[in-house]
Amino acid sequence: MSVCSIEDVAEHVPEKPFWFQLYVMQDEGFVDELIERRGRPRCSALVLTLDLQILGQRHKDLKNGLSTPPRLTVPNMLDFATRVRWSLGMARTTRRSFATSSAPPERGRPRLAVALGQRAVRPQARLAQGGAHPRQVGAASFVIKGILDPEDARLAVKCGADAIVVSNHGGRQLDGALSTIRVLPSILRAVKGETEVWLDGGIRSGQDVLKAIALGADGTMIGRAYVHGLGAMGEAGVTRALEVIAKEMDFTMALAGRRDIRTVDRDILLVPRDFEGEWAGNR
Ligand SMILES: Cc1cc2nc3c(=O)[nH]c(=O)nc-3n(C[C@H](O)[C@H](O)[C@H](O)COP(=O)(O)O)c2cc1C
Repeated sequence: MSVCSIEDVAEHVPEKPFWFQLYVMQDEGFVDELIERRGRPRCSALVLTLDLQILGQRHKDLKNGLSTPPRLTVPNMLDFATRVRWSLGMARTTRRSFATSSAPPERGRPRLAVALGQRAVRPQARLAQGGAHPRQVGAASFVIKGILDPEDARLAVKCGADAIVVSNHGGRQLDGALSTIRVLPSILRAVKGETEVWLDGGIRSGQDVLKAIALGADGTMIGRAYVHGLGAMGEAGVTRALEVIAKEMDFTMALAGRRDIRTVDRDILLVPRDFEGEWAGNR
C-alpha cells in the first residue's frame, strides 16, 4: 500500500530487486489485474500480506482523525502551520492517495477482504484452498507476510511461498497479539528448511536483528526504524538509520566472538526457559 503507483516507483527505481506488496481484497478480478498487468511485468517478488483483511482498531489514528488524503480540519491546519517545509512539499505533490490500489472509477473503491459487519473470511482459509494467487506469480518470488502460527506457516509452504514473514504488522492490527520473536521458534520448528523464514516487528537495533538471526530467522525486515530516519532527515536519514543498525550488529558480533553472520546461532543467546510460553491449546 503506497502513495506511489507501481509505475511511478518503476520509473524512479528501475533496477531490481523491485517488490510489490498486496493486501487481500474483495474484488478478486481487481487483485488479478494488479498482479498480472501492473505487478508481474515489473516486479521480481510479490509479497502478499495476510494480516490486514480488515483494518484494526487503531485508537491513535481514530483520535487524530488520520485519513488519506489528510482532511482540512482545525488540528490539521495547526499542524500544517507549524511544519511549513513539510506542508509546502505536500501542497506541491500529486501523491496524496493510495495509488497502488487505486482502481478505475467503474470498479468502485477497492475494499479489503472483509468489510465490517460481513462474515469474516480468514485469508488463511483461502490459503488452504490454494486461493492466494500463487498461480499468477509466474517467475517472480512469492512471499507471504503476516504469519504468527505454525499451521499457517505450513499452509504458506503448501501454497509455494518462497519465504514467509513472521509478523504482527508491527503490533498495529490486534492488541494482545503475541510478539513475533516469541512465536518464531515454533514456526521454525514447523517449516525451517522448506521456506525462508524472516521476521519483523520491533527491530530497532542491530542487536534485535542478531537476536532473530540467532534464534534461526533467515533475515529481518524493518518498519518504523527507517521511517523515523526518513521523517527526521529524508533519504539521508534512512541511510543513517540503516548504518546505525549495521554498526550495532558489527559491534555485537565482535563482542560475541563472531566474525561472520552465518556463524551466528543460539549459542550467543541466553534464552529464558519459558520464553515461548506455555499456552493452553498450544500445538
Ligand atoms: C506507517 C506504517 C505503514 C505500514 N504499511 C504497511 C503496508 O502497506 N503493508 C504491509 O504489509 N505492512 C505495512 N506496515 C507494517 C510493516 O510492514 C511491518 O510489518 C511493521 O512495521 C514491522 O514492525 P516495526 O515497525 O516495529 O519494524 C506498515 C507499518 C507502518 C508503521
